Amino acid sequence: MDAPEISIIPKPLHIQAGSGRLMFDSAVVVNASVGHAELGPEGYQLTVDDNGITFLAGTKTGIFYAEKTLMQLLPPASLRTDAGDKAWPLPHVQITDVPRFRWRGAMLDVARHFLPKRDVLRFLDLMALHKLNVLHFHLTEDQGWRIEIKQYPKLTEVGGWRRETVGDGRPHGGFYTQDDIREIVAYATERHITVVPEIDLPGHSTAAIAAYPELGNQDVPSAQEPREVWTEFGIAKTVLNVEDATIEFYKTVLDEVCELFPGEFVCLGGDECPKDEWKASARAQARKAELGLATEEDLQAWFMNQLGAHVSAKGRKLLGWDEILEGELFPGTVVSAWRSTEYAVEAARRGHDTLTSPTRWVYFDYRQSDADGEPGAPWAAPTSLEQAYSFEPVPEDLPEELAGHVIGSEATLWSEYIPDARIHDYQSWPRLAAFCETVWSAPGRDYAEFLPRLTKHLERLDALGVEYRPLDGPHPWQKQPAPRWREDPHEAGE
Ligand code: ACM
Repeated sequence: MDAPEISIIPKPLHIQAGSGRLMFDSAVVVNASVGHAELGPEGYQLTVDDNGITFLAGTKTGIFYAEKTLMQLLPPASLRTDAGDKAWPLPHVQITDVPRFRWRGAMLDVARHFLPKRDVLRFLDLMALHKLNVLHFHLTEDQGWRIEIKQYPKLTEVGGWRRETVGDGRPHGGFYTQDDIREIVAYATERHITVVPEIDLPGHSTAAIAAYPELGNQDVPSAQEPREVWTEFGIAKTVLNVEDATIEFYKTVLDEVCELFPGEFVCLGGDECPKDEWKASARAQARKAELGLATEEDLQAWFMNQLGAHVSAKGRKLLGWDEILEGELFPGTVVSAWRSTEYAVEAARRGHDTLTSPTRWVYFDYRQSDADGEPGAPWAAPTSLEQAYSFEPVPEDLPEELAGHVIGSEATLWSEYIPDARIHDYQSWPRLAAFCETVWSAPGRDYAEFLPRLTKHLERLDALGVEYRPLDGPHPWQKQPAPRWREDPHEAGE
């Protein structure tokens, strides 16, 4: 006998532009009730039986996730935009589902390559479908500044564009207006996704210095020539100076950023800040002495903490990359451990919450295999789908009593080698589908059990027009020539 089921008629799910929410034929009774505290802020219970569909949850977010699970119970074709007038079988089920971590993030680097707004909105839809709930929006880099700041228009007029990318001879650029940002944040909020803006400093700031040279270390001979928005990849030696005027400049930037992003967190980066210019700068050395600081690392911590205090006075918390552990941390700062999970252990030992984003498992800009033509960043070993699925967010060597400091994880999509939305799909999927289970489900996953479920899921991604990496490798059109990358002779000190 066939398993019992009911029929429902979902209205079209407009993945591109619509509400992204299922609506039901009035013949099906949908009962949704919140206030079930035992399910937590994001969990839900979904029941389908002859009485119709029942969603129980602690909050509206749980109801939202119950809907997302319901969509997974329907045939993949129900996700197509022309699915609206068909009836689809829905099996009788009861599912109780509560996430393991509260921070289930994806980081978009829209700075190395700009990702147009429409593609960001589409990515938010896909994140929601996978129950990811934090978009970490990496908005500024050496290679581009992507958010309009009214007080400092040159940040985007100059900093939003570069002459070429690693010798390709083609200009590249783009930025989001403040209206675009408000729209992205509203779209994310409707999908129960928090957007965490990142203004990366004091390194990764060449685009800002190109726009406003007074932000640079102008007393250092090698930093005196006008900077252009960086056209190379790697770690630029160009960094911000540590003057009060620079701190004031960034306070104004952060005032506008905090207006636009109402979420709890603001990321100030703090990663990969070479200290060469500060060592060579008489001004920076004088500052260090005047502040009674011992090292350039302390100087960085001091600089970041000035801005941390400013953001904190607005009721926000700071997020920073694990290099910020090299100095004193602003109280309440969350540390994103990317180089190794040992930094998550250190952050937790120092009483801070932490995210784990270790390169080997969740850097989805890395290639997915080492086959010829495989797209992705050339500077590290590949991260296969299986490797991504094997990720365990809580470091093995974290003492149990500190485990609560790991609030979740983020997968990153650095975009040096993600030049457009098609490659963006390829690098993201299906690895993000693997990642979303690592941050939602209980530990102890089995790749052999995952694969058949994923194969079914790929039909959903097909229906949604997602150009994911096929399990057996890239289509010929998806293959890329060997990536271009070279040391910038100027930055390498030649
Ligand atoms: C990073 O990958 N530089 C955080």
